Amino acid sequence: MCGIVGYIGLQEVAPIIIDGLKRLEYRGYDSAGLAVLTNGTVNILKRAGKVADLETLVEMHPIAATIGIGHTRWATHGEPNDINAHPHIDQTGTIALVHNGIIENHGAIRQRLERDGIVFNTQTDTESLVQLISAFYDITQNLEQAVRLALQEIDGTFGIVVVSSREPGKLIAARRGSPLVLGINEGEYFIASDASAIIGHTRQVIYLEDDDVATLTRDGYEVKTLGDEPVEHQIEEITYDIEQIEKGGFEHFMLKEIHEQAQTIMDSMRGRIMLEKGTAKLGGLREVLPVLNNARRIIITACGTSWHAGLVGEYMLEHYARIPVEVEYASEFRYRDPIINEDDVVIVISQSGETADTLAALREAKKRGATVVGICNVVGSTIARETHAGVFIHAGPEIGVASTKAFTAQLVALSLLTLMLGRNRGFISIEEGRQFAAELLSIPDKVTEILSDTSEIQEVARRYSQVTNALYLGRGYNFPSALEGALKLKEISYIHAEGYPAAEMKHGPIALIDENMPVVIIAPQDRIHEKVISNIQEVKARKGLVIAIVNHEDAVIHALADHIIAIPRTVDFLTPMLTSIPLQLLAYYIAVLRGCNVDQPRNLAKSVTVE
Ligand code: G6P
Repeated sequence: MCGIVGYIGLQEVAPIIIDGLKRLEYRGYDSAGLAVLTNGTVNILKRAGKVADLETLVEMHPIAATIGIGHTRWATHGEPNDINAHPHIDQTGTIALVHNGIIENHGAIRQRLERDGIVFNTQTDTESLVQLISAFYDITQNLEQAVRLALQEIDGTFGIVVVSSREPGKLIAARRGSPLVLGINEGEYFIASDASAIIGHTRQVIYLEDDDVATLTRDGYEVKTLGDEPVEHQIEEITYDIEQIEKGGFEHFMLKEIHEQAQTIMDSMRGRIMLEKGTAKLGGLREVLPVLNNARRIIITACGTSWHAGLVGEYMLEHYARIPVEVEYASEFRYRDPIINEDDVVIVISQSGETADTLAALREAKKRGATVVGICNVVGSTIARETHAGVFIHAGPEIGVASTKAFTAQLVALSLLTLMLGRNRGFISIEEGRQFAAELLSIPDKVTEILSDTSEIQEVARRYSQVTNALYLGRGYNFPSALEGALKLKEISYIHAEGYPAAEMKHGPIALIDENMPVVIIAPQDRIHEKVISNIQEVKARKGLVIAIVNHEDAVIHALADHIIAIPRTVDFLTPMLTSIPLQLLAYYIAVLRGCNVDQPRNLAKSVTVE
C-alpha cells in the first residue's frame, strides 16, 4: 500500500526522504510527494509517477531543511494525479499531513467542514483529516492536541505523520490499523510505515501500536495514547535485512499476499456494510443504481482469476438478486458480436484495470449501449476510468503474478453487490440481510484461523509435490473455486491441473483417475454437500487420492478422504472466500518444493496489456 517516511534531525531532509521512499517502491504506488519545513513555511513538492520524478522535481527546486515528511500513494479515493498526491495541506497552508489507510467517514467530515466555509482542493479522504486537524488547531493552538482531537472523530484506519510551520521543531505521528515504526538515532528520529525505509540510518526502533500518538522533536520522542496517557514501548533492534522486510518476513510476495487476506478482505468491505439495515452501500455505484436495480440481465466479463471471481458472482447474483447473469471471457465477448440491450449491465472485473481483452470488451459493451460497471483494484487504471461507475476492491498492490488477495477482495465486492441488489429488489429480507452482513464481517477472523495453522497443507504439498497431474472438483459456489485452485497450481508449479464441476467428472475426467491421481475436492457443508459426498465416493471407488477441503465437523468426509484440510463454516455464497485460501497455499507450497519462481512464473505477466 502507500508508504510513509518522516525525519527530524540535523541532516538535510530531502535526500533522506527520497531514499526512504525509494526503499518503499516495491509496495507499489502511483504518485509521490514530500513536505519540508523551512523559515516558517511548509514547502510541498509532489507529483504523479515515480519517486525518480519527484527526485527530479526536488533537484529543480532545492529546499534546505532538516524536518519533513514524504509519501508514496496508492490511490484509493481520487485519481492518481499531482493534486491527489500526498502530503495534503490544510486551508491555512500551515499543516501538512501524509496518511496511509482509509478514512471511512470522510464524506460526513467534509460536508461539515464545507458548511463552515472550508474549501477542499482534492478528491481524497485524507484531506478531510488535515482540514479537521486544522479546525481543532484554531481552538487549541497545539498541534499534538489538535491531532488527538481530530483522530477521535475518525472511523477507519490511519498511519499518519503531521507537521506544522507554526510548531516547526515537531513531527506528530499516530496509527490505527496502519503500521508505523519510529527509528531512533543520536539527535535524530525517523518515522516510517515500514522499517525498510529507515534501516539504512538506524536499527533501533519502536513499533507503534494502535491509538498511539508519538511526538518527535530533535531532543527526543514521547508516545502517548489517543486519550493522552503516556505509554512505554521497548526499543527493539532490527536484525533482519531489507529484502526480508519488503516481503514482510515471508519468503515470497505471493505468500505475504496470501497472509494479508484477513486484512484485505476487511479493507474491501470497510465502510460499506450497513449492519442495522442488513444491506451494503457502494458509493461508486450511486449514479447507476436505478439501472442496476432494474437490470434485465448482467453480463460479467473478465480474464483469468478475475473471470473465476465473476463465475462466483453469477451464482450469487442469480440466487439472491434474481437477475439473469452471464459470465464470459473478455477475449470471446469482444469478438463474437454479442447482443446487448440498453437495460443490460456489463460488469468488467480486473485487478490491474489494464488487461487488454477486458478493456476491449468494456469498449465493445459501451459502444453497444450497455451500462458498464467496473470492479477494479487499481484506482486510476484505464478500465476504472472508462467504466460508467464502479467498485474499488482496496486489496492494495498485488506483486505476485498469481492473483490471490485480489481474488478474495473481488469476491467481497461481488458479495456486497449481491447483498445490496438482493435487498433493493426485495429478494433478501432485512433479517437475512443482517445475517449476511454479520457473516461477511466474520470472514476475516475465519481467514486468520485458516492461516494460523498451515501444517496439514504443507504436509499434503510434500506428499504430492512431484505429481504431473491433478484434478480439482467442486460444485455450486465452489465449482469456480475448483477452477481457481487448478489455475493457481498450473500457474506457479507447472503441474497440469484441471478444474471441473464435480458431477461433470463422470463425463470425461473420471477416465484419468487411478491410484496416482490426486483429486482435490472442495466440499464445505452447503446445500449440495450430499451430492459432493457421492462424487468423492466415485473417486475413491477408482482408487483416486482424495484431498478434501471440508468443514471441521464433517465426520463423513473425514472418514472417506485421504487428506483433510479443515476450514470454518460460513454461509454458502461466502464459502469461496475461505476455500480459496488453502488452495492458494497448496499451490504455493508445491511450487516452492519444486523450486519454481513463485512470484514470477515463466511465461506469465501480471498485467496482460496485449491481445
Ligand atoms: C494475468 C494475471 C492473472 C490475472 C489475469 C487478469 O493473466 O497473471 O493473475 O488474473 O491477468 O488480470 P486482471 O488484472 O484483469 O484481473
